[in-house]
Amino acid sequence: MGKLLLTSGQVSVLLSSCIVLIFTVVLFFSGYVLQQRTVHSLQAAIRPTRPKPLPVAEPIAPPTLDVKWARPVGSRPNVDESVEQYLAGETMDWSRLGYVQMARDHSELCSAIMILADVHKMKSPARKILLFPRSWLKKTEGDEYDADMSTTRRLLRTAARRYGVSLNPMETITKDADESLPSSYSLASMYSLTDYERIVYLQGPGVLLDASALDSLLAFSKSEPMAAFPASPDRTSISTSMFMIHPSTEHFHQLRDIRATGPMADLDLLRQSFPAPESLISEWSLSIGNFVYESQNLRNAVDGFNATLFEKATTYVRLSDPELPGPEFDIPYDERAALHPENEEARETWKNLYERFRQRRMEVCGLDLMYQAESELPPAVDVDQDQSAEVPEV
Ligand SMILES: *[C@@H]1O[C@H](CO)[C@@H](O)[C@H](O)[C@H]1NC(C)=O
Repeated sequence: MGKLLLTSGQVSVLLSSCIVLIFTVVLFFSGYVLQQRTVHSLQAAIRPTRPKPLPVAEPIAPPTLDVKWARPVGSRPNVDESVEQYLAGETMDWSRLGYVQMARDHSELCSAIMILADVHKMKSPARKILLFPRSWLKKTEGDEYDADMSTTRRLLRTAARRYGVSLNPMETITKDADESLPSSYSLASMYSLTDYERIVYLQGPGVLLDASALDSLLAFSKSEPMAAFPASPDRTSISTSMFMIHPSTEHFHQLRDIRATGPMADLDLLRQSFPAPESLISEWSLSIGNFVYESQNLRNAVDGFNATLFEKATTYVRLSDPELPGPEFDIPYDERAALHPENEEARETWKNLYERFRQRRMEVCGLDLMYQAESELPPAVDVDQDQSAEVPEV
């Protein structure tokens, strides 16, 4: 008898837990679907010139790779869903939102412009901003430039004219630093762009597959000093592979002062100033898009990896394989083939991404791949040779 009562008690506890669980799951998914719809209808409203593909009624399943990269299951949304915010979205001031890139050195310029050109191609309404050393604007005696410098000036003109990039010369991060050294410049300079409310940075080189998730992030997030992509799924530190910041003079000065105490890498500087998990992008926001993916992870792809789904669900792929000098370099076929992912679909995706980068580098910069030893050589193709044209006014 007593045993029977206990069992029915257990049953009712079990039953009510099930009901609570079911309601939680239903609530989560209805919230998620609603948010997706809102985001998609807002995108449609913002960009009347470019009809989006059909709104997704159901969230796209994340690419099957390994558990580590599975879609994080939602916590409370960090996106303000109030009606006011919705209406504000329709009259959003896109001139205060932007994508930012930084070139500290001639060799970084093309990849930086390529990302902004991708943003342009995807018709993002946000601004495109490029930071580069002010010393590049200096006139030389008789207007003679070396090969690097003439390519650089050509690329800056192309960025501004063809892709609507706003050119922002920057100073070295510490006073009296050698302005020709890449290490004299810091990502911290992005905090000086106080004309902008929120800016997103993607670490190059890489291929942008879809800007819409980043546009949504820019549009519907609260402004925070730092919202970075986590360095690892356990969310214990920030990375610089992608971040969104709210530029402010206060933070700019703070970072500059820390940097003045001694040389340090940008990642260390930013980690020192912006602890995790407070300075990370919320898990909810991360769930709207597979924002950053590193090409080397394609080698961990497991059976069932679907290239189509991967492309649909991924925003940006950074081309980073530790054995390679970078996607800008041509390396012998055998060496490259040794790195190919074993999974067939993942291998095609990997090869495609590197090939897409090669083609886009030619389209955007008019530059061929470099041979590692010959990286100092001038580009094989130089499309726009008019030396007389000035770098556009900034
Ligand atoms: C990948 O997913 C797409 C869309 O769901 C499907 O049409 C396609 O058949 C899948 N490909 C493979 C190889 O499973």
